Amino acid sequence: MIRLRLLLARFAAWPGHVASWLGERFELEDSVLAVLKHPVPRELERPVGWWYVFGSATLAVFVVQIATGVGLAMTYVPAPNSAYDSLQFISHDATLGSVVRGIHYFGAGAMVVLVLVHMTQVYLFGAFKFPREANWLSGSLLLLATLAMAFTGQLLRWDQDAFWSVVVAAEQAAQAPVIGDWLAHLVVAGANVGGATLTRFYATHVFLIPAAIFGLLGIHLYLVIKRGISEPPVAGLTVDRRSYRQRYAAMLERGIPFWPDAAWRDAAVSTLVVAGIVVLAAAIGAPQLGKPPDPTVVVADPRPDWYFLGYFALLALIPPATEALVIVGLPLLAFVFLFLVPILWPDGERHWSRRPVAIAAVALPFVGYVALTVAGLESPWVPRLEGASLPASVTRGLDAPALHGAQLFIDKSCWACHQIDGSGGRKGPDLTHVASRLSRDQLIARIANGGGGMPAFAGSVTPAELDDLAAFLQTRR
Ligand code: HEC
Repeated sequence: MIRLRLLLARFAAWPGHVASWLGERFELEDSVLAVLKHPVPRELERPVGWWYVFGSATLAVFVVQIATGVGLAMTYVPAPNSAYDSLQFISHDATLGSVVRGIHYFGAGAMVVLVLVHMTQVYLFGAFKFPREANWLSGSLLLLATLAMAFTGQLLRWDQDAFWSVVVAAEQAAQAPVIGDWLAHLVVAGANVGGATLTRFYATHVFLIPAAIFGLLGIHLYLVIKRGISEPPVAGLTVDRRSYRQRYAAMLERGIPFWPDAAWRDAAVSTLVVAGIVVLAAAIGAPQLGKPPDPTVVVADPRPDWYFLGYFALLALIPPATEALVIVGLPLLAFVFLFLVPILWPDGERHWSRRPVAIAAVALPFVGYVALTVAGLESPWVPRLEGASLPASVTRGLDAPALHGAQLFIDKSCWACHQIDGSGGRKGPDLTHVASRLSRDQLIARIANGGGGMPAFAGSVTPAELDDLAAFLQTRR
């Protein structure tokens, strides 16, 4: 009995021993501990402190992304003939594979959202103003890196949607003035989407951008600590470059230690966010893969993940003539604006109630993007793909009228709304087996009269063309 107690007492003393061993070797008091306990404005103790949690939550999700990303990379094979199968294996056979993929998927969406919420808060609180301009600039680069991660990651799925997304992205990149061809070549890693493309996206996704993020994150966190956390804005209290630092230093005199007085909110929200991602991943799992990539089957509406849907919808809705301008100009404008924000407005009012234009600069793009996303969800986006054609399995063995009908199916843009054997848009019903549902007369009536989302073609196709279209569709049983 006495022995057991002695043993327990020894065990109980262990953490203390370890701590003092580490303490003597590393002397963390004046580095890590000092950083953790650095003073922050006393106001963060109040409920307004809840607005300050999104940066750390983003960081927490990023750590989760690294962990799950490394896990996925252990099994994923970045080669065109194996990528799809290795993902199928991860999703269906590997232990916890579906959950890990699911966490990585929902984590990506969460990271995009959290970065944007964090930036919105910083913007509306005027926290980007003097002396924290460089925090904002490094943060803007981190936003760019996060979006690049989301985009390259989706393509690693290497299913039909991913494959055709690259094709569409490359076609759009090629429209950029002057550098278009070079840009498309850079994205595709050659003239055609294939093995080299996948390797390039993989290396970009797992090495290049993460390395950039680590570097930027280092700068960003250094600045956050060095410049101090901004105090909640007060209407009427302006930032003046000569007096601000003095005022801030005085404020910190009565400040509170970051850990634990302010950091517990960060810890709580980060835990909640990560738990939410894990629950979603466990309940819903990884997103379904589409069909394996097949260069001969053109998918008319490759869908990106939901947070990019608005941008894709925009590309579909704008008139073709403005495409080059919008594809390159709009993102460029958005980022130039981001970078100009702290340079153009480094001082003055911080409080949002005194900055109505700033509120509009947040609200209008937000409402616009939500509307575009809804539009993107409702109407499948039909890209203008050059040289679209039906798969050989469809056109093989057709007689002349039916073959002509198959060509009309593309030329009259039926293909943009209807799929046949996996090729085509998804706005209308799949016509792969339409002949087993509809007779020749019914087919002709449907095409001529339209209705229910289907345009009437009576005015835009001749009776002979209508005959050929019907002849073609009649072969679809
Ligand atoms: C703008 C998109 C769009 C285009 C372009 C389009 N369709 Fe449709 N189509 C639809 C929709 C939506 C429906 C479903 C209408 C409904 O539910 O009543 C439909 C229905 C049909 C049907 C009936 C299918 C069924 O199973 O009931 C046929 C046949 C058809 N379309 C053929 C064509 C042909 C041929 C063309 C080209 C000449 C064409 N469509 C062009 C959207 C489109």
